[in-house]
Amino acid sequence: MTTLAAKTKLKPLQIGPITIDMPLVLAPMAGVTSHAFRLLCRNHGVGLVVTELLSSHAIHYKNAKTFGMFDWADNERPVSVQLFGGDPALMAEASQVVEAAGADIIDLNMGCWVPKVAKTGAGATLLKDVCLAQSVVKAMVDAVKIPVTVKIRSGWDPSQTTGIEFAKRAQDAGAQAIAVHARYANQGFTGRADWSIIRRVKDMVTIPVIGNGDVETPEDAKRMIAETGCDAVMVGRAAMGNPWIFGDIAHYLETGEHRRPPTLADRIEAALFHVKTMAANPAVGEERAVKEMRGQITHYFKGFPGVSALRCLLVQARTVEEIELLLRRENNAHS
Ligand SMILES: Cc1cc2nc3c(=O)[nH]c(=O)nc-3n(C[C@H](O)[C@H](O)[C@H](O)COP(=O)(O)O)c2cc1C
Repeated sequence: MTTLAAKTKLKPLQIGPITIDMPLVLAPMAGVTSHAFRLLCRNHGVGLVVTELLSSHAIHYKNAKTFGMFDWADNERPVSVQLFGGDPALMAEASQVVEAAGADIIDLNMGCWVPKVAKTGAGATLLKDVCLAQSVVKAMVDAVKIPVTVKIRSGWDPSQTTGIEFAKRAQDAGAQAIAVHARYANQGFTGRADWSIIRRVKDMVTIPVIGNGDVETPEDAKRMIAETGCDAVMVGRAAMGNPWIFGDIAHYLETGEHRRPPTLADRIEAALFHVKTMAANPAVGEERAVKEMRGQITHYFKGFPGVSALRCLLVQARTVEEIELLLRRENNAHS
């Protein structure tokens, strides 16, 4: 991996004392980036994975469901655990809890705009009060020994590009890297990401900057690096059902060429690994794993002929065995 990073002329990503050889990051995605999916992406070459967001309030009140989401394991390290909250003391406490539970890095969520999170003063709402946000980062940094990072958006709306100013404040407070999803919070996922904001953040700080937003192809990743100078590229939606994207990007950056796309058999193996790993987690179990996979499994077969018929069958499957049977049958039909 180190050799590959060197050949791409990308430096390994350095987050405090942690060296991440391949500077590609799986974006945190609620309901998607479970241990199983993170491990799958690690096996396919991503350098760093981030958990979905965890509530500092829920950790304070020892909410069993939230503790059930402490699903990281040694085989996916380094793993960054993302927290949300707007209260410095609670965020410091939650940081200590996840550090004790084995997190390698703690990431502060300053991008979530959904009302359930934003109206509590957490997530992207912190972009409206950069002084408070800086206190949250400082409280987290002071509370733990492991590195703290921050994931921001460009600002709350285009009239307040506070993300750029905040990046410097985050660095001053001791953050060791900053990820920039180059959209405003009030955009949700609409419009296109404006990567010039990543460039402006990069000019503002000396800590590593991780670029994020609308990277769908290896060419996009190359262009993002060229246009923004970012130190690493974070991919979210384009990785769903497509863990190969990380190896594809690395290969393209190294050689300028594309790898062969995954075959149907490759896709089936990856989907089965995903659901089996999820089911094997005692905190999840087979019934919940099968239900949760319903929203994700068809991403593996996007664009394949007969995918809608397969989707109808897959969403009715009740067990991992049924899913495997359906997929093996599909493979036989195409071979
Ligand atoms: C289903 C879904 C869930 C997400 N959950 C989170 C989250 O828990 N924390 C976070 O910081 N961002 C979250 N995001 C935002 C992504 O991390 C990322 O910033 C965004 O999707 C843009 O990157 P992309 O264009 O590569 O998808 C989520 C995005 C999606 C699509």
